[in-house]
Amino acid sequence: MRGSKLRAAGVKGIGAYLPERILTNADLEKLVETSDQWILERTGIRERRIASKDETAATLGTRAAIEAIKDAGINPTDVQCIITATITPDYFFPATACLIQDAIGATGAAAFDLLVGCTGFVYGLVIASQMVSYGAFDNVLVIGADVLSKFINWRDRHTCVLFGDGAGAAVISQIDDDYGLLGFDIGSDGSLSKLLRIEAGGSHRPASLMTVLEEAHSLTMNGSEVFKFAVRAMSDSTRRALQACGLDVEHVSLFVPHQANMRIVRAAAERLQIPIERIFTNVEKYGNTSAASIPIALAEADKLGRIKRGDIVVCTSFGGGLSWASCVLRW
Ligand code: UT7
Repeated sequence: MRGSKLRAAGVKGIGAYLPERILTNADLEKLVETSDQWILERTGIRERRIASKDETAATLGTRAAIEAIKDAGINPTDVQCIITATITPDYFFPATACLIQDAIGATGAAAFDLLVGCTGFVYGLVIASQMVSYGAFDNVLVIGADVLSKFINWRDRHTCVLFGDGAGAAVISQIDDDYGLLGFDIGSDGSLSKLLRIEAGGSHRPASLMTVLEEAHSLTMNGSEVFKFAVRAMSDSTRRALQACGLDVEHVSLFVPHQANMRIVRAAAERLQIPIERIFTNVEKYGNTSAASIPIALAEADKLGRIKRGDIVVCTSFGGGLSWASCVLRW
């Protein structure tokens, strides 16, 4: 992927932030007809974090960004570009990235949002790495921040048990040669866009009294079709990303998949023949945090010592679009 003149780019710092409030499966039993047993067996989720009234994608993202900047050992003013992956922005516009730019004091940094659902962080990491490799910027902050609790129909048991709120962030900078992003695979299939979306509020169906009464501003999903897509997309995309840098599954020290559902992770791992010990999961504690899921997992894996310098780490994700994204990193 890299020509000889390009700089190596990778994760220089990583951080995460989770809201304090915990919503357990037992709490959900009081909201909809469901059970701890059903949720646990079908998804592997025990509890998730829920943002307070005042918390937004920007406030969560800011907390994670500050952690990542500290971890990288740089100052906020060293950040030259901010990419925020979110499908739950504070506003339609301006970009949530601009709010974070102001909040962290990254004076004059370029800032924009990526709206690619759960795959957004890996898309952002790939874009940021290219910017650094080609010398456009030295430090790019990539944030995944989502507050899906504010876009969920809390009477729909098919969706409300699955999601949680959170944010994760990474500083992408020039690093030692042969480290950082080695290969990637990103793509989409828009013919499947109806399977996972928020129907109203955009130019297709602007907000009206009707759309509010129909609860058309909350997320809808065809769970079983998304499930099938997810297993295929994550395993095929992982293979392509590894192929892009001449590596194989056995070279990988740790897989960090999108934390959507334990059954999806297990099925994808089976297709790839990856032993479960080499897969990092925390879906049990946080549910599906959308674009935040991979950076939160990476930050936790790093903190727990599950990733060491030189390890090959693969992140793989699927999400709205429908889309997929995988990247291979030498840590
Ligand atoms: O980033 C977005 C990613 N989205 C996902 O990761 C979702 C992918 N899909 C899934 O993870 C699974 O499809 C679900 C966990 C959403 C559902 O699991 P499933 O094994 O596909 O169940 P199902 O949709 O086929 O439903 C089985 C039954 C149904 O009952 P009937 O209609 O067969 O009588 C559902 O009504 O389970 C029922 N059900 C529930 N029961 C208790 C659905 N949701 C619940 C619930 N509690 N929360």
